[in-house]
Amino acid sequence: MTKANKPMENKKDIDWSSLTFGYVPTNYNVRCYYRNGAWGEVEVSSSDMISIPMAATCLHYGQEAFEGMKAFRGKDGKIRIFRPEENAKRLQSSSQGIMMPEVPTDLFIDMVEKAILLNKEFVPPYGTGASLYIRPLLLGLSQQVGVKPAGEYLFMIFVTPVGPYFKEGFKPTPMAIMRGYDRAAPLGTGTIKVGGNYAASLKPGEIAHHEGYSAVLFLDAKHKEFIDECGPANFFGIKDNTYITPKSTSILPSITNKSLMQIAEDLGMKVERREIHVDELNTFEEAGACGTAAVISPILRIDDLDEHKSYVLSKDGKPGVMSEKLYNKLRAIQYGEEPDTHNWVRIVEE
Ligand code: PLP
Ligand code: COI
Repeated sequence: MTKANKPMENKKDIDWSSLTFGYVPTNYNVRCYYRNGAWGEVEVSSSDMISIPMAATCLHYGQEAFEGMKAFRGKDGKIRIFRPEENAKRLQSSSQGIMMPEVPTDLFIDMVEKAILLNKEFVPPYGTGASLYIRPLLLGLSQQVGVKPAGEYLFMIFVTPVGPYFKEGFKPTPMAIMRGYDRAAPLGTGTIKVGGNYAASLKPGEIAHHEGYSAVLFLDAKHKEFIDECGPANFFGIKDNTYITPKSTSILPSITNKSLMQIAEDLGMKVERREIHVDELNTFEEAGACGTAAVISPILRIDDLDEHKSYVLSKDGKPGVMSEKLYNKLRAIQYGEEPDTHNWVRIVEE
């Protein structure tokens, strides 16, 4: 639907507290084209449609990468974003991975701020549990029929207000190991944020949802022995006051996970980033999935559907004590309620 025939979004109609992780149209998005070896001027669009050549490389050969961020409105009314330079860096790494030009960090952050400010009435009010999701997107635009990188690119950012990614929010949910599916190859594109990884996860994800699981816990594709990640989020386990998270060549380096490792250390925990054998799941006192969309989603139980084994990670159905501490601390920093000792927060509007 184009802006012209789309009903104007009426913010009064938005029930912020019952938003899901869906798409609500907002007023504007921002765009920048890369042509003749250079980025052009930033353009503002009120249409949520894009027009691209049918032979564009993003459509045929997956020359596409994206990012995911959130803007939070604090109790003080200020709008904050979290570690945007890390998202800029990760998009640059995605660009290197699939032969696209890098979006400079300054351009990335300027466009993120512009997209938020142009739609600031869509930043959900404090206390509703909702936030403004920010989706930067880089597309190979020019026509190719041979498998080759494009010469022209579109970098754009749209925003949309969202509620929790896992509908249960901060409540433990069951996850499934499905050994018949891989998300990414050991030396493939798992460490960058390209659409193809998500395409590979769609089928097992749908099967898992249908069976009542919130996500698939992917194992390493080569040995099927070590934990990789939980669908669209990293995995962590906790035992003996230690935060343990996988080291793998096929998982996305999560900015939330990186921050939680630091927060765990700040809370006096030990931190280990290493291979986690699936059998070790039996030994964790708590476990969770973490990411921008997922925040921390505690894990109730992991069922290995092929080996017919179950690992219980919450005996009473409640989030673990340490997961709750980590969650509260991360949220408090993001909402400006705790001192930002690591300089992670950027205020978009005073
Ligand atoms: N892993 C995958 C596959 C993801 O899609 C995401 C989401 O971006 C994450 C992990 C979490 O990363 P971040 O914390 O940077 O959002
Ligand atoms: C995010 O956490 O921002 C993500 O990008 C996950 C997603 C694919 C919804």
